Order: sequence, then C-alpha cells, then structure tokens
Amino acid sequence: MSSVRSAYTDSLNFYGRHTPQELAEIYGTPLYVYSEGVLRERCRDLITLSPHPGFGVNYSVKANANPTILGIVREEGLVVDAMSQGELHLDTLAGFPPEKILYISNNNSPEELRHAAAHSLLVSVDSISQLDAFGRLNHGGKVMARFNPGIGAGHHAMVVTAGRETKFGVMPDNLDEVFVLLNRHQLTLSGINQHIGSLFMTADGYLDAATVLLALAERLPGEVLKKLEIIDFGGGFGIPYHKYEGEKRLNLADLGARLHDLIAGWAAKTGYAGRFLVEPGRYVAAECGILLGRVHAVKNNGDIRYVGTDLGFSTLVRPMLYDSFHDVEIYRAEGETAALDPVKQTIVGNICESGDILAKARLLPAMREGDVLGILDAGAYGFVMASNYNQRCRPAEVLIRADGTAKLIRRRETLDDLTRCFK
Ligand SMILES: Cc1ncc(COP(=O)(O)O)c(C=O)c1O
Repeated sequence: MSSVRSAYTDSLNFYGRHTPQELAEIYGTPLYVYSEGVLRERCRDLITLSPHPGFGVNYSVKANANPTILGIVREEGLVVDAMSQGELHLDTLAGFPPEKILYISNNNSPEELRHAAAHSLLVSVDSISQLDAFGRLNHGGKVMARFNPGIGAGHHAMVVTAGRETKFGVMPDNLDEVFVLLNRHQLTLSGINQHIGSLFMTADGYLDAATVLLALAERLPGEVLKKLEIIDFGGGFGIPYHKYEGEKRLNLADLGARLHDLIAGWAAKTGYAGRFLVEPGRYVAAECGILLGRVHAVKNNGDIRYVGTDLGFSTLVRPMLYDSFHDVEIYRAEGETAALDPVKQTIVGNICESGDILAKARLLPAMREGDVLGILDAGAYGFVMASNYNQRCRPAEVLIRADGTAKLIRRRETLDDLTRCFK
C-alpha cells in the first residue's frame, strides 16, 4: 500500500495488521476505526494524573458510547457518567455497576429522574427547580448538585458550559436555596460537580475553576461537608487536532502535579476523605478514532477544487457545527503514483447542503477518485453525533485490537434500520 499522506498513523501503526485500504474494502466506507492501544494509553494518561487515594476519572460517555469502547474504559479502571436513559443503558451493557455510574444530567422529566433513582444512581441536578423535583421523588435519599463556577472555557461558544451566559449549573449565590431544599426533602448532599467547557489546552482556567469549587465546598456547613463523598471538577481536557503542524499536547504532567497539590492540600486542610473526580470525554476517546471515507468525485467550481466524498455531515458533524479542524490523511492503492505537491482543496460530503464541508481550502496532495481518506481524531463526538439526515445509514465501527486484528464492533445500518420505527 502506498500512502500519499500517512506519517502520523504510520508512526503509531494505527491500523495494526491491516491497511486502511483493506479496511475500506472489507467493511465499506464511511467507517469509524478505533485503536485499542491508543484508547488504553489515553485512559492511563488520566488515571495517573494524581496519586491521591480518592482521585479517579469519570469518563464522559457522551463522547463515544460504543459498549466495546466502554468495556475497555472499564477495564482501565475509569468510572462513567450518564446523562440520559440511553447512556445509562449502554453503561450497564458495558458492565458498569450502579456505583460506578454518576447520573449527570440537566432538565430531566420526573420519569427520567425516577428511572435514574430506581437504578440506585447518584444523581446530579443542575438547578434549584430540578433539586426540588428530585427531592419530591427521592425523599430522604442522596443527591449531587452541579454548580456554575462563573468561569467558562472552550473551543467554541457552543461548548462553553459555565459562566453567567450558559444554561448550566446552580449559581453559587443560590447556595442558601439549596440548603432549604435539602432540609425540606431530607436529602444528603453527597457530591458537588461542575464542567466549565470543552477543549482547553492549558491548565490554568481548569485549575482556577477547581479552586472555586473547593472554595464553595468550604462554605458548606461542617455536617454537610462531612457527608460529601464526591467533588467532580468536570472535563474539557483538549487534544491536539493540528497533528501535521506539530501542535503541542496539553501538558498533563504539569496539570496533574498542580491538581494533585490542590486536592491533597485541600483534603489535608479540611479533613475531606471523599473522592475527587475529573470528567473528560474527548481526551479519552478522540485520538483513538479515525473516520475512513472514499473520494467519489473531484471537480473545479470556479477557483475552488472540490473533493467529493462519502463523508457528509451526517457522518461527522463537528466541522459544520463548530467549524472544527480535523487533520486528513490520504491513502492510495499500491503502485499508484502520487503527486505530492500540495494543492488547495475543499473536502465535501454527500449531503444536500452547501455547508456540508469537512475541510476547507486545505493544502494537501491532489486527491483523486478512489482515494481513501482518514479523518483523524474522530473518536470523540464523531459517531455519537451522526444522524440519518438525507436518509443515509449510519456507518459501521471497527476496533483494531491490541494484537493488530480488526473486529467489527457495530455493523453498518441498513435500510431496514431506517424504517424500523414507522407505523
Ligand atoms: C457535564 C459534562 N461533563 C463532561 C463533559 C466532557 O467534556 P470533554 O469531552 O470536553 O472532556 C461534557 C461535555 O459536554 C459535559 O457536558
């Protein structure tokens, strides 16, 4: 197999005993391919962030909820969150017991709250209104509360999840109302949590927000703090999407050392003996996933060279939704020549919308019909956000196991899947 642009995956032996061309032939495209090796490595990066006895990692399942992926995450010692009945169902299918699932949700119906409580989950509510609703159906039980530390972060306004202009969390000014409801419903406050946003590449904002949450915990009356079991600082840990430009990784060693000092110092000061969690999704799952697609048409419209692929936004929506950048690799059959001089090209999908753009005006070796493309870092917020728009079937998912062999972990949808729910 001769590859036009594959230095990154070559360096990792990402595809194991296969070539991406072979995988595209066997399973078809579009195809999500995951590397077990990369996934395990990312889990281990996180679990070793702090040696504090109560430190743990709560994988945020919304990033990738395939039960095989979840099973590997479980084997690596992470716990998981759930924010819907569907996520809870998949967590359970992957073997997580209730005590390893935190229900971190917002704006749930009473039925959803009852469902989570019936599964013996610790439920985090993110408003006074939901605290009251949950208290009415879980009188005398436990609850967690999500606070909004007033500091947000993120790669796009749509993923900033704290600060005065977001819908999330209870503002610390409302702490007194929280106590009133805890008393009224005889609830034990078992945990507090926050999530400031997604994709930070330096530690400062995250640590500042963690400090704010700890300061809030110190405002809890002694008897409340004594019963607190979990302080969860949220996720947002970024990954370098610009791999071919040598973008630096988030300095986890620095973040880990500073987080450890913060939590160990705070626990020593306050006598807190509970758990401290971080709640990353993207950092765990993004880099283990690559989306394979095929070029079906190439044309020039005016000055723009369009490369038409089967990777519409129904397959990967991040570029269209957030203007996100994903690096692209290009694979071509053995013995075929490749002109390596870069040409400006816009890679588009097969959806009937002009916003269906995967990569805009990229300088890449000229692509042609039949090439297989690898869209890097597609393991998080990739398949989970795929849709059936234009009535396209969602892709298959394949795992490259530690021994280099490939295993189908979700079959491609069929036309029967499209019509299953019609009456
Ligand atoms: C409550 C909560 N926790 C964790 C995450 C995971 O964020 P990330 O994938 O950026 O780590 C999210 C993402 O939206 C979230 O809303």
